[in-house]
Amino acid sequence: MVFKIGLIGCSRVSKKKFIPAINSLDFTTITSVGSRTDSKAKQWAKEIGCSDYGSYEDVISSDIDCVYISLPDGLHEEWAIKAANAGLHVLCEKTSTTSFESAKNMIDCAKRANTRIMECFSFRFHPQNNQVLELIKKNHIGNIHNFIGNFGYPKPDDQNIRLKKKLGGGILNDAGCYPICASRIIFNEEPIGVMSNLNIEPNLGIDVSSTVVLTFNKKNAIIEAGFGRNFKSNYEIWGSEGNIKVNRAYAVPNNFETKIEIEKNDETKIIKNIPIDQTALMIKAFYEDIMKITKCSFNFERELLSQARVMEAVRLSNSKKKFITLEEIN
Ligand SMILES: NC(=O)c1ccc[n+]([C@@H]2O[C@H](COP(=O)([O-])OP(=O)(O)OC[C@H]3O[C@@H](n4cnc5c(N)ncnc54)[C@H](OP(=O)(O)O)[C@@H]3O)[C@@H](O)[C@H]2O)c1
Repeated sequence: MVFKIGLIGCSRVSKKKFIPAINSLDFTTITSVGSRTDSKAKQWAKEIGCSDYGSYEDVISSDIDCVYISLPDGLHEEWAIKAANAGLHVLCEKTSTTSFESAKNMIDCAKRANTRIMECFSFRFHPQNNQVLELIKKNHIGNIHNFIGNFGYPKPDDQNIRLKKKLGGGILNDAGCYPICASRIIFNEEPIGVMSNLNIEPNLGIDVSSTVVLTFNKKNAIIEAGFGRNFKSNYEIWGSEGNIKVNRAYAVPNNFETKIEIEKNDETKIIKNIPIDQTALMIKAFYEDIMKITKCSFNFERELLSQARVMEAVRLSNSKKKFITLEEIN
């Protein structure tokens, strides 16, 4: 049985990452394409080689098992709920949504419909992620005290969804979410509280840079994200006996050889990874968990909610200009 996927939105990320990943996998295929523009859906369906196309509603009512939602962040909730209510699984692009309340709505609907939903943080499926976790588990750098993560790039063009307040734009939703997620994975716990500063561009009403300090139990994560920067997508972990650096941590192109640097006793060891498609690994893990073939190392829905809770604390800390504990976010 083939796992049939419908596209909600003909997006850049779909063209660049999702469709090539699906084409490399033998258990799944795209059978339906949805766009706000009929001619665009038709053209994409032709290129993909599927017969069903139309509006987002048409995709949801077509014969599929799952949707891939790659709309602007502010529209994820609406379409994830519509898809779940129609009995469909959901692969939802990051950031899953723009508030903790709407993340809870999405998860509640999926639970009621007995369907699954995952936020598409594909970086966590790259082998380097598990290698870093293994190094920490095997005590290679001693006790870990601090995570520093950065993600930034040149400012997108004026029409880009990332600069539109109404669509859930801003650097926190687009890039800051990655190192926040990575620090939670590395420390394998949730932060106690958050202090943040989002620099809002007055003309746009969106954050163009964000600085976030997450306080964990005896550890902290310092995160910086920004538009208008030279490209950087990294993190560094500081331990009592060494440091780990991952220079290409979040957006890893399929043809990119990654390197983990382990600094210890004035020496640097390097672990290289051959190029790999992290989006394909993510889709495979989602499918295998749903089909009860292999259980994924984390629970998709719990993770989506936990991440959304931290993101909400970051927003609240910025608006109230004070330290927010995670207990305050319910
Ligand atoms: N996981 C990753 O590596 C990764 C990378 C990049 C982006 N993303 C995420 O993927 C999503 C899409 O990002 P993208 O860069 O691919 O964006 P994009 O190219 O602008 O695509 C977004 C799509 O949403 C649809 N849409 C619906 N309402 C819209 C509106 N009012 N304005 C503009 N578009 C609208 C459009 O599709 P139709 O015209 O066909 O309806 C558009 O093509 C975002 O959530 C982003 O955070 C993830």
